[in-house]
Amino acid sequence: MKAKPLLLKSFLLTFFLSLAFLLLTLQPNIRKTTNPPPQNPVSGNGDLRIRPGYKSYEAYIQRQLDKTLNPKLRKIWTTRDWDRKIDVFAKFFEELKQKHLLANDSKALCIGARVGQEVAALRRVGVSDSVGIDLVPYPPLVVKGDFHNQPFENETFDFEFSNVFDHALYPSKFVGEIERTLRPGGVCVLHVALSRRADKYSANDLYSVRPLVEIFRASEMVDVRRVDGFGLDTEVVFRKRKKNQRS
Ligand SMILES: *[C@@H]1O[C@H](CO)[C@@H](O)[C@H](O)[C@H]1NC(C)=O
Ligand SMILES: *[C@@H]1O[C@H](CO)[C@@H](O)[C@H](O)[C@H]1NC(C)=O
Repeated sequence: MKAKPLLLKSFLLTFFLSLAFLLLTLQPNIRKTTNPPPQNPVSGNGDLRIRPGYKSYEAYIQRQLDKTLNPKLRKIWTTRDWDRKIDVFAKFFEELKQKHLLANDSKALCIGARVGQEVAALRRVGVSDSVGIDLVPYPPLVVKGDFHNQPFENETFDFEFSNVFDHALYPSKFVGEIERTLRPGGVCVLHVALSRRADKYSANDLYSVRPLVEIFRASEMVDVRRVDGFGLDTEVVFRKRKKNQRS
């Protein structure tokens, strides 16, 4: 009669101890490899959803590298896609110049630039001081850098462009780094997919621009329009507030 509760007790004890052990071992593991700080809670309205399933920051980075380093994709990006994509990007950048959101003397960054087609397009339209970052460098257009932890000083750029927001595991950190490295008054242009799901390498899904407006805390949204950008359907433009400007 006494054996049962004892058995139950020791079972429960073992269970909770293992649970605690698991939590303790998993948690620091995630912490340790996740150098970007945990994201701010984003958007109560559910229009931005982080895809589950990454056990660690390293597992996430590895998955991103799987795409970036895929030899077939890289071949296509640098050959068949090269001219076609540069033409389309150049058209987008020309339009931004006409709206005075970008100028020849803007210092410009392309985030998640892969082989640097956007950078080549910027240079073609006359924005010569432009560079890209990605996990894998592609000199001279793209230098190595993680968009969750940009390798640049505060207030470096006048203009930042990205079409990889959906790859951000920490959207607040992605945006925080843009706002940190933009000069006051600087412009960030994102191409995002609102009406269709991006790809299997995406780390989040975005259903409206509202979450962006929330997480661009140091900026104002100055333009939104529909575009046809390689599966991305919406262009959103933010301008970082000047120091004395109130939100
Ligand atoms: C900007 O650069 C382009 C391409 O080099 C050039 O055609 C254009 O005249 C320049 N615009 C200004 C305002 O300097
Ligand atoms: C850079 O910006 C971040 C975030 O705005 C701030 O916390 C940090 O103190 C700044 N660093 C320098 C060197 O100004």
